[in-house]
Amino acid sequence: MADFKGSTIYQIYPKSFYDSNHDGVGDIRGVIEKLDYIQSLGVDLIWSTPFFVSPLNDNGYDVEDYRKIHPLFGTMEDVEELIREAEKRGMGLMLDMVFNHTSTRHEWFQRALAGEKDYMDYYIFRDGGADTPPTNWQSKFGGSAWEYVPSLKKWYLHLFDVTQADLNWENPKVREELKEVIRFWKKKGVKGFRFDVVNLISKPKIFEDDNEGDGRRFYSDGPHVHEYLKELVADTGIGDLITVGEMSFTSLDHCIRYSSPEEKELSMCFNFHHLKVDYRDGNKWALMRPDYRKLKELFETWQTGMEQENGWNAVFWCNHDQPRIVSRFGDEKKYWKESAKMLAACIHMLRGTPYVFQGEELGMTNTGYTDISEYRDVESIHYYHILLNEGKSREEALQILRQRSRDNSRSPMQWDFGTYAGFSEQEPWIKIPENHKKINVAAEEADPDSILHYYRKLISLRKQYAVIREGAIEFLYREQPEIFAYRRLLEGEELVVLNNLTDREVVLPESVSCQNSICLLHNYPEGLCRNTLETLRPYESLVLFKRYS
Ligand code: GLC
Repeated sequence: MADFKGSTIYQIYPKSFYDSNHDGVGDIRGVIEKLDYIQSLGVDLIWSTPFFVSPLNDNGYDVEDYRKIHPLFGTMEDVEELIREAEKRGMGLMLDMVFNHTSTRHEWFQRALAGEKDYMDYYIFRDGGADTPPTNWQSKFGGSAWEYVPSLKKWYLHLFDVTQADLNWENPKVREELKEVIRFWKKKGVKGFRFDVVNLISKPKIFEDDNEGDGRRFYSDGPHVHEYLKELVADTGIGDLITVGEMSFTSLDHCIRYSSPEEKELSMCFNFHHLKVDYRDGNKWALMRPDYRKLKELFETWQTGMEQENGWNAVFWCNHDQPRIVSRFGDEKKYWKESAKMLAACIHMLRGTPYVFQGEELGMTNTGYTDISEYRDVESIHYYHILLNEGKSREEALQILRQRSRDNSRSPMQWDFGTYAGFSEQEPWIKIPENHKKINVAAEEADPDSILHYYRKLISLRKQYAVIREGAIEFLYREQPEIFAYRRLLEGEELVVLNNLTDREVVLPESVSCQNSICLLHNYPEGLCRNTLETLRPYESLVLFKRYS
């Protein structure tokens, strides 16, 4: 069994990582060229978002062929070289398997459209008149989740874009096809798999209208999902690799089952509850200041709940679907460095496997785009129009996108001070924020106090201290929403992590002495703490360690 508890995983969005052939789009050779940098972070696995053949309507999450590489990103030889070169540096590649749906350009869907019965059964087609979709379910990107095909007089289900048709996992042939894809990549030496929205694969027997919501309660963690995952893992022999499922709108009980080793499903789960504490009434497109009390409660529930039942969390703030964390829960201006470091410490010392999304280790910020023409993401563009139709002004709609768009995380990696931030010599496919002149790898390599070096320290602590990998967790100062603090415990070792989530000084409920412990990390410029603390300064964060004899 791979050491998923001791690993840190680095996520790459290849389109925006490094452009080796200078056509404005990042590519697989770009990742190969930057492997020494990735290795220097101390990470174990590189998760790449999809680079397979695709019309790229949803940037690769609309797969047309699971075994072929999109020429924009490179060739199969490039991927093989990436696997080899990563391995030489002690790292593995984790691939993103989008198995809830395929692109409508996939051969299976094309054959279904041509009326081949066998292939129609690969997808979820339902009868119905041209004006009456089978249910009132909404797509996650806005609008109906059903699309009518006049030539077949049937509707097909697409929980995401209209070009992403949901697969019918009830059909054993579909499950076999997908297992073959896993076997193909496993043979190539891939060391892990991330399964995209995998808790949505099992749809209910009966499709009915949802009078309370958008339909998700019927198909999230659906009736056969655990069975299907067990079968997929057992039949492909990936139980000893590192696997993670992206779980949308899930529950703790299901995530325990997905990730506890006895169940033989996955190594760990992503859940998103903690990233909804700034959604007003659960609506991503309605802005609200983060509710830190809620955030703390959620971490506590998920951390202790998973520990009690032997489940395992993937811990993270950022990915290619989320705005940048420093802009979201931190302060991208006055306390940029302090807050980025504090947020990193919050996550990395938890019980779970940390994920770092490219540029997070630099404290990259939201993009600050001011015109809709600068956005590229299918979801942002859909929602911009939905917001206008709801009566919002352009400026109001843009204000929402500036905080919520997925493009906030998709702007190019900022490598240096040069034009296009050293990402490319060509104008990139998506605009680079102005602040690349300050926030970039070159600047942060040269600054011993940088966010980049802080991430390196955090990642190396996980290797050095068993208490971080294995320790139990206990939450401190539970009644104080401004302080996110916890203790980790393991046979004679104790780690205390203290974080001020706010831009104000806060009084600690009891004084904390740094004299009886070793201060492993501290995010204020004066260096490691040796005093007794009565208060925490804005965004102050400390990691303290004690060993008992
Ligand atoms: C996941 C991916 C996201 C994609 C969606 C549909 O949530 O992370 O980028 O749009 O699934 O595949």
